[in-house]
Formats: sequence, structure tokens, C-alpha cells
Amino acid sequence: MTLPLPAKPAETPEADATAFILANLPLAPVPGIAEIRLHGAQPSSGLRRLAEMAGGSTGAGRSPYWAYHWAGGTVLARYLLDHPETVRGRAVLDLGTGSGLVAIAAARAGASSVTGVDIDAHAIIAARLNAALNDVTFETLQADLTAGEPPSVDLITVGDLFYDRSLARRVTAFLDRCLAMGITVLVGDPGRAHLPRQRLAAIAEYQVSDFGEAGAGTPATVFAFSAEHSAFPSPLAGEGALAEGEGG
Ligand SMILES: C[S@@+](CC[C@H](N)C(=O)[O-])C[C@H]1O[C@@H](n2cnc3c(N)ncnc32)[C@H](O)[C@@H]1O
Repeated sequence: MTLPLPAKPAETPEADATAFILANLPLAPVPGIAEIRLHGAQPSSGLRRLAEMAGGSTGAGRSPYWAYHWAGGTVLARYLLDHPETVRGRAVLDLGTGSGLVAIAAARAGASSVTGVDIDAHAIIAARLNAALNDVTFETLQADLTAGEPPSVDLITVGDLFYDRSLARRVTAFLDRCLAMGITVLVGDPGRAHLPRQRLAAIAEYQVSDFGEAGAGTPATVFAFSAEHSAFPSPLAGEGALAEGEGG
């Protein structure tokens, strides 16, 4: 008698995506942040296949921004690692965590808790993999918090989230509500089109690498998000401006 072979157990979309990232997105240090390595996309990674896998049920229809490093997240991560007092002992939420780079830096710098939030399921999977790879742990949450109430945290980090007009409006309104609850908000950005400049006070500037760049050729800034720009004078405005000036 021939017994039927057991069917291959169906993989979950999460398991498929995890296996895909491990197999096709090689590890590399983040340019300018040698202490953090991430799974990153290369031309040969075939990210389109990931989008098509499992009927596109995870990460469907979204640009795979999580697979790259961005100047905004890179400058913020560099700043947190250089200034751990910014996050030490504080509960941090990283909005639009993508690869998890900023969340990893916050955890490394001694935050009491870190939550990486993203709307993209693949970003959440990548952030978890990258966290483990860099020997840190943090919570992850797939959600769009921008329409909701402020979370119960001390600090919100926002790396490179002002690339789209409608998103920038929603994020700014959300950050306003967070600010009103006493939450500190730090933004990292290279000056994208929809950055709410009048609400930001520069804290530090670095030359970092951006999406599609190998070298550290993009100036990017860490800002404090504030209710009124005039109430938050920029430490970079006076003599010695750009004193931070560390290359990425
Ligand atoms: C340009 S990437 C930046 C990723 C990361 N912060 C960094 O700098 O490396 C933007 C990320 O924000 C996520 N995103 C877009 N809209 C969002 C929203 N409403 N809530 C949370 N994440 C969002 C995207 O899925 C993407 O992973």
C-alpha cells in the first residue's frame, strides 16, 4: 500500500517574507553608522517577487521603503547614538520605522522601551529581523497611528516621513496632538518637499547617505518639532552654528 505523502505545510505570508528577506537582502553596515547592520535591497534582490508572493497579502501595494536607508532616519540614528542622553531611560516610539534603524539606535542608546510602528507588514518583519541582528529588542506595531490619540511615550522619533503632502499633513496634526500631551518629538530629514519647516528647530546637522547613494553626500538635520518656531530657538542659529557637523 502506498501512503500519500504528507502535504507540504503551508507557509504563512510572514514566514515567506521572512525567508525572502533572509535569502535576498544581504546584510551591510549603514553608511556612517558602522555599529548597525541592516538587511538591505540590491538590484538583484528581486523585491517585486516579494510583493507578488502570497497574493500580495502582506505589504501589498506599498513601496518597499523599509528595504533602504534614508537620510532622515540615518541622521536621527547617528544623533541618538552620539547623544544617548536624549533617549536614556525614556519610552520611545519610532513612527514609520521602516527598517527599524532609528528604533535600533534608540534601544542601543538606552531607551527604557522602544516601539517601532509602520503601516507596512514587510517593514515590521524587516525591523524585527534587523533588531535581532543588532542584539536589541523592541516592540513592533503595524498600524497607522496618525488618526488616533497620542501614545503613552516620552519621545517620538520621525525619520524621513515628510515625502508626501497628504501624509505630511496627517503626521503634523498627529505630532501636534502628541506635543500637547507633553511628548517630545524629534524629526530627522534632509529637507523633503513637505517638511513643515516653520514647526522645526534644528538641533544638529550631519552629512549622511541617502536612498540610492553610497557615500555620505547629503546634508540632513535633526529637528525638535515645536508648537511655535519662535518659542524654540535653534541651537544652530548663532555663532558656532553647525558645530555638531560630524560627517555621517
Ligand atoms: C522613507 S521610509 C523611512 C523609514 C525610516 N524611518 C528611516 O528613516 O529609515 C518611510 C516609512 O514610513 C512608513 N509609513 C508611511 N506612512 C505611515 C504611517 N501613516 N504610519 C506609519 N508608518 C508609515 C512607510 O511604510 C515607510 O516604511
